[in-house]
This record gives sequence, structure tokens and C-alpha cells, in this order.
Amino acid sequence: MCGIVGYVGNENARNIIIDGLKRLEYRGYDSAGIALADPEQGMIVRKKKGRIANLEEYISGENLFSTIGIGHTRWATHGAPSDENAHPHVSADGKIALVHNGIIENYVELKKELMEKHGIVFSSETDTEVLTKLIGVLYEGDLEDAVFKALDRVRGAFAIGVISQDEPGRLVAARKDSPLIVGLGRDGNFIASDIPAILKYCRQIYLIENNEVVVLTENNVQIFDAQRRPVRRDVFNVTWDADAAEKEGYDHFMLKEIHEQPEGIRNTVERRMDDHGEIVLDGINLTRETIEYFNKVYIVACGTAYHAGLIGKYAIEKFAHISVEVDIASEFRYRDPFVDDRTLFIAISQSGETLDTLAALREAKKKGARVLSVVNVVGSSVARESDDVFYTWAGPEIAVASTKAYTTQLVCMYLIGMYMGRKKGLLDDETYQTLMNELLVIPDKLETLLQKERVVQDLARRFYRSNNVFFIGRGPDSYVSYEGSLKLKEISYINSFAIAAGELKHGTIALIEKDTLVVALATQDSLFEKMLSNIKEVKSRDATVLAIAKEGNTTVEAEADYVFYIPQCPDELTPLLSVVPLQQFAYYIAKMRGCDIDKPKNLAKSVTVE
Ligand code: AGP
Repeated sequence: MCGIVGYVGNENARNIIIDGLKRLEYRGYDSAGIALADPEQGMIVRKKKGRIANLEEYISGENLFSTIGIGHTRWATHGAPSDENAHPHVSADGKIALVHNGIIENYVELKKELMEKHGIVFSSETDTEVLTKLIGVLYEGDLEDAVFKALDRVRGAFAIGVISQDEPGRLVAARKDSPLIVGLGRDGNFIASDIPAILKYCRQIYLIENNEVVVLTENNVQIFDAQRRPVRRDVFNVTWDADAAEKEGYDHFMLKEIHEQPEGIRNTVERRMDDHGEIVLDGINLTRETIEYFNKVYIVACGTAYHAGLIGKYAIEKFAHISVEVDIASEFRYRDPFVDDRTLFIAISQSGETLDTLAALREAKKKGARVLSVVNVVGSSVARESDDVFYTWAGPEIAVASTKAYTTQLVCMYLIGMYMGRKKGLLDDETYQTLMNELLVIPDKLETLLQKERVVQDLARRFYRSNNVFFIGRGPDSYVSYEGSLKLKEISYINSFAIAAGELKHGTIALIEKDTLVVALATQDSLFEKMLSNIKEVKSRDATVLAIAKEGNTTVEAEADYVFYIPQCPDELTPLLSVVPLQQFAYYIAKMRGCDIDKPKNLAKSVTVE
């Protein structure tokens, strides 16, 4: 997610904004910029790719003073990280500057209209510049009016801050689906993406709601609804300290990111559908012919991304009827794999910088494969070296233990499988529509599921002293059990093992003894009876069983010691739900064991070594 800071008051906006941007660095970004509206010098815009320190260095020799300004840290979604793509962006006459967090979905059509009807020339690849140029075209001396008119034309998510050199006392802001707050300060008023940016200056804030526009001056703040009617808003008094504020009140980034999964899935799905509900994979040029030409798909990744790849195999084979091989990147690159120009090579990587995955990708390219990558970081090495890129749009993932990136990777796997199946004429309208409808309601089901967190916390309290934990499942549940086991291992340091339930009897069951905790995923209707047998199997060896099952399948209670229920949904999509209690289970066990959850020992967020 991008970070926004804005100020209008009687202090030097430059210092306040740079300071505020630094407090948003934890959110992850790839470039930063600032705009200051000065009556004499006009609109001053300075922006640089890279860290905020780069921007500070860039402006260090200038005596920039203004009492109004906006600033931005960019997390690229449209257009790779670069000086030109960094925010703020300006209107055609350079007099209006804007910063934006979110995605303008209809920016292509607006851009075309601005170029053809108004002869607008663009300097960046971003959707944000289109919105800025549109406001410039609609500006007739009243910035608030121009913003309202422009937002009437826009579809998508936005939190914006806009200033004009012709109105140096007014800052206009607006939000829809991207977070925005207003800070009421002693020496002026602020806008920000979230509290840490302005906590140093004010603790009284307005939480801005969807489709509201805010007009700030040094001494006044007005909030308007979409119909331009004034809105009265209670002041929210912030009691958090700075550290808690970065996590928006959560104790750890991991827990915050677990709770951001509904939004991440929504962002990843909804912006990939056209007005007819068909999947539109921007950045992926796979035609029916190219898809028919592939005779094999390789999915290659590491760790959690590899576990997402296993679900990808399941989804692509099920929906597109193409043989899929999934491999761990560090193995793939050394086994001289059978890859040629009829191979689609899918690399999955949250960071896009994992060296094993990057090296495997290069090996596949060398052998002629078409490379599609699923990554969370725009402009990352894996993205740059791929033929097609499918972004997960989970927003920056700060915690080392991957959660929201994993579930958005799953969504990408489902969409790729369904897209290819549709292109091959294998997914009829009814089946496709049912699946899409189910996918679209997953975020709501996830919201409901997250409200049962206390139940998971109580289970964690019961088991946090365990020394050995087994995860078992069948079909997609076995792939999710691998992920649940990895989560527990990497943040609680408990020895955990995942295995396909049907495989237990071929040796591993020798390890099951009295009170061994076995987490049994039993969400697949088609395999439910089999899983009940496996639960009986480990119970007969005095194991303690925690089952994860769909609501309504209460027969499992006769076999398992504890059951955690997830909402009903098609077997294919249950991984999007069943993984969440496992993430929370790992989190609360690690918390009760006093572990460093966001930065586990010996681990890095991105493994850029072999
Ligand atoms: C997952 O929680 C771990 N942090 C780790 O396994 C990670 O998934 C793996 O290193 C791959 O990282 P990537 O997705 O950035 O390539």
C-alpha cells in the first residue's frame, strides 16, 4: 500500500511531510515524493525512486518553504518503480499536484479520452497521473469542485490528497476503499494514510468514510458526502504509542496481515473481472492458441509460495486439464528438468527476489519456457524477468511469516486455472459463474471466520507447550497442512510435521504416541469419511486430535477431541478459509511462547542467497 501525508497550517510543510513519510516506511515502498504549493515559486514537486533518504538528499540543497504540501511513499501497482512513476503527479499546467493510494480501474479509458479530447500528454505509466490530469482539465478555479467532478468519473479505490498553487490555503482529500484520516493539529491540519504519520503532531483525528471529500485549511476541516452535503464526524482520540500505531493497534504485523486477508483477496479478485464477470488478466497475454499449445505447466517456488503452488496444480489440472508439475526451486534448477517451448513456467514469489526461484526461472527461460510469475512486489527481479506477470495486490507484507501473500497467491492460482479453462472451453458458464460467485463471497466468509479468533486463542493456550505437532489432510487439505506446519515451525520453533493423511500408515504413524497433537484438516466433502478413518487411526494411538471441518459436518465430533469449524464453501476453495485458523493457531502459540513473531530467529523476509 502507498503512504500519504498532507499538511496545511503555519509551519514548514516540507519538514512535517518528510517526517511523516518516514513514519510510513514500515509499510513498504519503492519511491517517495513531495509537492509544496508556494505563491511565489508555484508548485514545487520533488520525487525520487528508492528510499526517502534519496529524496532528502535530492532536496537537501534547496530552501523549500511552504505552509501547504502533500507527500507520498509509493508501493507500485501500475508502472514499475521510477522517478517518473513516483507521486505526486501534476495537472497538465503543473499547477495542481496529487498523491494517491489505491487503484483507478478505468484509468485506461480516461487516459484515452484525455489524450484524444484534450491533447493531454502523459509522463508516467500510472493510473494516478490520469486522475490528476482529469482534475486539471475539470478545474475552473475551485479545487473542491474539480475533485468532486473528477471522482464522479472514476471507478476503483482511492485515498487522495490534492493541492493547487492558485489556492495555497486549501488541501482537498477524498477516499473510497483506501484508508484516509484527518489530523486536527495545533498549528494546522493533516491528512494521512494512517495514524503513525501524524501522531507526533496530533492525537485528535477524523476517520474518513467511503465516498467522502474533505476540505482542509489551517483552521478548519469540512467533510462532505458524495452528494456534497456537509457531514458531522466525532473526533477519535488516539491513545496508541507510535509502535502500536504502525500495526494499527495489532500486537504484531503478522496478526495485522492475517486480518488484512479479506481486503487482499477482494483487491486481487475484483479488479480482475470485466463488466460481464469474465476474468481479465491484465499483464497476461495468454490466448486460447497459446494455452492449447502448452503440454505442461511447471509451478516452481519456495516455502509458503511453494505450498500455494501445490494448490495451483490442483486448480489448473481441475479447471484447465493441463498436466502440472510443482517443484521446489532449489531442486528444479539442478535436475535438468524437461522444459521446452511448450512449457508454461509459473514462478510464485511474494518478494520477487528469492534467489532460488529467480535462478529456476532463468533455467526455464534458457530452455524455452514461457514464464508467468505471480508476485507481490511490482518491478521485482522475478517480475522483470518474466514474460507475463500476475500481481497479488496483497499490499506490503512486513512479517517474515507469509499470510496474506499466501491467500492472494491461492486466488491467483484459481483465477489462472479458471481463465485457462474458460479459454479452452472446458468451464461452462454455469460452473464458472458458480465458482466466481463463491470466490467473490470468500472475503465476507473470511471476515466472519476471523471473528472466531478467541476460539483459536483458547486452543493455542491448551497446546502451546507441545513439543511435536502433526498436520494431516487429504487432497487440497494436505497442501494446506504443509502451510499450517510451516507457520507453526517458523514462528513458535515447535517441531512440526505435515503429511498426507493416507501416507501416515506407511511409517510416520510410528511417531504418534500418547498426547501427540495431530491437527487434522477434514474440509473436503469428497474425502471426509477417509479423514474420519485417519482420525480414528491416530486416536487409537492416544493422539490428541484438533480437526478443522466445515460447519455442519458434526460427525467429526465423535472422533476428534476438538473441532474448529470453517464456513461452508465448495471443496475447491476451502484452502482460502482453512489456512486462517492455522495461521492464528501458530500466531497465538508463538505469542504464548514469547517468540519474536514478526522477525523469527534465523529467518529473513526475502531469501536472496542460495
Ligand atoms: C513463509 O512464511 C516464509 N517466510 C518463507 O517460506 C517464504 O515463503 C519463502 O522464503 C519464499 O519467499 P518468496 O515468496 O518471497 O519467494
